[in-house]
Amino acid sequence: MKRLFCVLSVLGVLVGVAHSLMAQEGPTSVQDGVYSDAQAERGEKFFGEACMVCHQPEEFSDGGYLEGWSGQNVNDFVEFVRSTMPEDNPGRLKRREYIDIITYFFKLNGLPAGENDLERKSLRGIQIEGPYGDASQDRH
Ligand code: HEC
Repeated sequence: MKRLFCVLSVLGVLVGVAHSLMAQEGPTSVQDGVYSDAQAERGEKFFGEACMVCHQPEEFSDGGYLEGWSGQNVNDFVEFVRSTMPEDNPGRLKRREYIDIITYFFKLNGLPAGENDLERKSLRGIQIEGPYGDASQDRH
């Protein structure tokens, strides 16, 4: 019996270690503060210049739109927008600008900002998931 306890506690420690290792791998959800406020502001500017001819921010706020992307990764979302928009000239913007616009969408949906910009290399590892809010009310 003693031995069983011993094995179990070793297992417990291992599981704990594995957990903390995984936690250190960085953000894996859009809920984890994966973009910066400054980046979302740049995105708002690009959106104003390249998208507002046809779109209003309200179309992409309040969670309704992002809900449809739940379960997919951010790279899929960025690539989708990049390959279809602006409708009259898809792919016209720089990839970095598309990523900035996506972070502006995140902000519009009440997702929390963090310290660092969202980088291209981490897009694939970040899952889109709720809950979403509506930050468009905060705009002035
Ligand atoms: C010339 C007009 C035009 C411009 C400019 C434009 N779009 Fe669109 N966009 C459309 C149309 C039309 C649709 C499809 C119908 C709809 O959802 O309004 C669409 C749909 C979308 C969708 C939803 C697609 C879906 O089905 O999930 C997104 C996201 C989007 N646009 C993002 C952008 C972004 C970001 C920009 C700026 C880089 C942009 N659009 C610029 C016309 C435009």
